[in-house]
Amino acid sequence: SESVRIALLGCGVVGGAVARRLSEAKDEFAARVGRPLEIVGVAVRDTGKDRSETGLDASLFTTDAETLVTEADLVIELMGGMEPAKSLLQKAIESGASVITANKALLGQHGAELYELAEEHGVDLYYEAAVAGAIPLIRPLRVSLAGDSVHRVMGIVNGTTNFILDKMDRTGAQLADVLAEAQELGYAEADPTADVEGHDAQAKAAILASLAFHTRVRTCDVHVEGIMGVTADDIRAARRIGCVIKLLAIAELVDKGGSQAVNVRVHPTLIDRSHPLASVREAFNAVFVETQMAGELMFYGPGAGGDPTASAVLGDVVQAARHKVTGGRGPGELSYANLPIEPIGAS
Ligand code: NDP
Ligand code: HSE
Repeated sequence: SESVRIALLGCGVVGGAVARRLSEAKDEFAARVGRPLEIVGVAVRDTGKDRSETGLDASLFTTDAETLVTEADLVIELMGGMEPAKSLLQKAIESGASVITANKALLGQHGAELYELAEEHGVDLYYEAAVAGAIPLIRPLRVSLAGDSVHRVMGIVNGTTNFILDKMDRTGAQLADVLAEAQELGYAEADPTADVEGHDAQAKAAILASLAFHTRVRTCDVHVEGIMGVTADDIRAARRIGCVIKLLAIAELVDKGGSQAVNVRVHPTLIDRSHPLASVREAFNAVFVETQMAGELMFYGPGAGGDPTASAVLGDVVQAARHKVTGGRGPGELSYANLPIEPIGAS
């Protein structure tokens, strides 16, 4: 049957993992979507790099992203940065493609604009991977909690800084000693100052606050303080009083002169070792969502890295592809697909 045509923009840590999984699990995706998924091109900066581990034919790699985005049903943006990512996503949407991105830097500043453009053109914009890596958090806020009222969102949303603070706590190392390790593991941004200065968490906090409170919060609305000033001495001092230091993102409804306002901030915070956030290790993330009706929910899991992030991207891909196949759109559901896996144990 006719395939769903996919353009991939970027084939680095996350894009490479997405490409590999799409090549390896072709049949599974075809069964889940109802039609085969076909990668029609992959835009990169350097077509000379060896990309054989993705399982994709070398002829698919191109530097002509501009043309590629007009040739696909779905465009997956995993290049990062503001431009050309923003213009390419706009062009893709205007050409009728649904778009999926993990680019929190872009969404934190221009999310509402892109969302409106997608609405105008009747296509989907998905970004589950943009906050907290593999953890399903965007869809719960966007869909599952849409009938509740969120009061507060608080948690660890940057894997790199959590990895660094955790290592400093456990080994007594200095920040600079462990940053390189976080980079090697694929957790850090291309420019890791975005992680350690808190800007990555700042953008994520803006995205979460916008969804949680059904409003528009941009990165520049979020107070930020990163971890550059946290020393091994600070960590030892925290330890002596039974605490750890974590970089927290907090978004809460507050009263401002009789009307509601949203306070959003990112900063290093002392946390008692008995608090659940204190035991979040390595590049894991954890986010508490406090609501009027559900009470307190906790979301926890791998917050960065190629495969975990690709897992979230691919969930979006399946949903967007199904919408293309069924003609539906918006956050829908996936159930009773047709995989050849039989239930056992009930006979
Ligand atoms: P990488 O730096 O590993 O990969 C970026 C890819 O994009 C590379 O393949 C690069 O090409 C390509 N690229 C960059 N600029 C251009 C351009 N102008 N034209 C064409 N291709 C370009 O980044 P990541 O995979 O780590 O991150 C990708 C996105 O996912 C970012 O938005 C990031 O914030 C987000 N993200 C990352 C996570 C992680 O854990 N790494 C987790 C969640 C989100 P080339 O290979 O030729 O250099
Ligand atoms: N650099 C980011 C982090 C990637 O460390 O959390 C995941 O968004």
